[in-house]
Amino acid sequence: MMYSSNLAKEHKNSLNLEESSTLPQIRGVIFDMDGVITDTIEYHYQTWQQLADEEGIPFNREANEELRGLSRRDSLIKMLGDREIFEEKIQELLDRKNRYYLEFIQTMNSDQLLPGVENLLNELRAANIKTGIASASQNVHRVVDRLGIRDRIDVITNVYNVNRPKPAPDVFVYAAEELGLLPRECLVIEDAESGIEAALAAGMWVVGLGPGDRVGQAHIVLPNLEGVHWSDLLLAIQSLR
Ligand code: BG6
Ligand code: MG
Repeated sequence: MMYSSNLAKEHKNSLNLEESSTLPQIRGVIFDMDGVITDTIEYHYQTWQQLADEEGIPFNREANEELRGLSRRDSLIKMLGDREIFEEKIQELLDRKNRYYLEFIQTMNSDQLLPGVENLLNELRAANIKTGIASASQNVHRVVDRLGIRDRIDVITNVYNVNRPKPAPDVFVYAAEELGLLPRECLVIEDAESGIEAALAAGMWVVGLGPGDRVGQAHIVLPNLEGVHWSDLLLAIQSLR
């Protein structure tokens, strides 16, 4: 089921479409990775939980939700709250968390693609629409390789290619530049509030995956990509005019 929010309509005005009689031309789709292409959110949860237990830091699934979309470092800082620790210790914790996470990645294969993703990637190729992944993860290249979709992705970027992490627009702007597209020619698919904020700030069209209280700011909100076709997304964007 698709719907567009009022906020989405206001945002559309900011894209200056009222002045144009032409339909939006989407030439590229930029995917977030964790929670959109694959469900690594569970792996991130389990590895943060292990670290938190070892360090005696209170943590649970609910707290993990707050970390969705944040970089590894920003996630740790949020987990630590008021605790003051030295930079060396921060680095050790980040490295340890990633060691645990890398063990999960080793077990991944194309079975971990979320429903609908492979079909959508194939439809985008057939429609000559460019594709990118813009992720907060430093492991993005490894995960894409494990999933076996590299041949259908034109550009892969992560927040370490740019100065500011999501919710700043940088990673999406950078991905669009790498694709040779204008922001308004790009559609972003995101599952995190910080990522939606980033994509809107970049001036792009946004599909939010998940509950409305998390992704309701997006132009289109869907539970996930299962059974979603490129033609559906295009029609939904064009109907926002
Ligand atoms: C984001 C995830 O995509 O990447 C976060 O939503 C994760 O949960 C972040 O912490 C960083 O990932 P990594 O692989 O660099 O630790
Ligand atoms: Mg995500």
